[in-house]
Amino acid sequence: MKRIGILTAGGDTPSLNATIHGAVMRANQLRIEMYGLIKGFNCLFNPRVPHVHLNPLFQEIPELDPTKGGTLIGSSRDFVDPNKKDELDLISGRMKQLGIDGLICIGGDGTLNGLQPLAERLPTVLAPKTIDNDLGLNYPSEPDEWVRTSDPQDPSGYSYRRAESDASFDLDQIVNYATPGYATAVLVSAQGVERVRTTAESHRRIAIIEVMGRHSGYIALGTAYGQPDIILIPEHPVNFELLVDRVKYLYDLQKNVVIVCGEGIVDELGNELGAESNTTDTGGNVALSGAADALRARMIQMIGDNYFQRYRRGNSAREAIFTRKVGHTQRGGRPILFDRFYAALLGAKAVDLLVEGRNNAVSILQYDFKRGFHVEGYDANRFRDRWGLIHPRYMHHSLYDPRLMKPSKMGNDYLLPIFTGAIGSDDAEHMRQTLFDPGNLAQPYHSINTDVHKRIRYLSAEG
Ligand code: F6P
Repeated sequence: MKRIGILTAGGDTPSLNATIHGAVMRANQLRIEMYGLIKGFNCLFNPRVPHVHLNPLFQEIPELDPTKGGTLIGSSRDFVDPNKKDELDLISGRMKQLGIDGLICIGGDGTLNGLQPLAERLPTVLAPKTIDNDLGLNYPSEPDEWVRTSDPQDPSGYSYRRAESDASFDLDQIVNYATPGYATAVLVSAQGVERVRTTAESHRRIAIIEVMGRHSGYIALGTAYGQPDIILIPEHPVNFELLVDRVKYLYDLQKNVVIVCGEGIVDELGNELGAESNTTDTGGNVALSGAADALRARMIQMIGDNYFQRYRRGNSAREAIFTRKVGHTQRGGRPILFDRFYAALLGAKAVDLLVEGRNNAVSILQYDFKRGFHVEGYDANRFRDRWGLIHPRYMHHSLYDPRLMKPSKMGNDYLLPIFTGAIGSDDAEHMRQTLFDPGNLAQPYHSINTDVHKRIRYLSAEG
């Protein structure tokens, strides 16, 4: 293997540069050239294939900083359609012209879905990333539990659901225990919870904080570190009666309540509280927005104004209950130590997998009590159901206590290995040294895109 292409696909995460860095470092050791393909799959559809040589003379370019969030080679939500054979042929032709012997895609479940048709034309490996932590399996046999029924309403003609499971769940069985980006997203979200708490306490208010994660509750679960009173996850329909009882109990006790909800939470009928009707992104995912607002509206209606007036804690429920979204701040900025370290290992492992001759494979992060965290290779097909589809991992129900609406004992056990020691001392020091740097006031922001642009090369110019 002489030259590897690498691209970042889907929503960004804080640790994409760290994964690229790990891959480039390994490539340098093996004397392999590494080309960064600009803007994810978008680059492959462009006959000029804009790209950057990331390790000329087997030295990493200085713009590649593993402590910087986002991705220096850009990302997009474009994806490869397996049915468009002509397009796929064009792509593999372009890769050949560029002299690329293998491809690393840094992506999530959507990217993994598009890997198969590429892997039939060129050795391709996925290095995982997603703040949602939904790329993986609760146990190896999970893909076999999916059943499909025809559904004229769905554009694919089918809908998928999970059959009853007879597999036992054990933390040691998880495939891809945690995904780079997740830990930093939890850090930002848990900090948000801590900060909102003191204002809720001071003003005797009920705060609802919405976090990302699509249909997986892992980010919401992790915010337990910020000590919210209640956590609502998409995997468990909201029981409004129970929720309001618990809110009133807590409000009586402490004069404030902090609730965290995942953006994909559903009501008792399974309807998404925050789904914007008919809106999907280019990857076909329903755009989720407004779960916290929908929850607030329901709570205002159920609790009513009298309750707050009686306590002399506000004139109305509308005044007392407020919402905040952590939003894209949880997806950006400097990755914390856990993410940086394991992202780099996963990037390096992806290179090793290609060099070992593996194709259609994924580098995964495994955890067990004896060995701690370690990276392995896993065949992508083992993530696929029997029709070849990859489904996002849902958080296993045993990680959540639906009565207390908090992580269960097992949920805590799941979080501990990831987050104990996840923040490096340099992470805290970095903030101390850089945020209030007087230079920040004097100089405008200098974007990485400006520097990388100077390095972009095009196929036609070279060919
Ligand atoms: O999949 C990552 C994610 O951040 C989700 O948690 C969220 O729903 C979505 O992407 C937001 O996407 P966009 O940046 O396109 O608004």
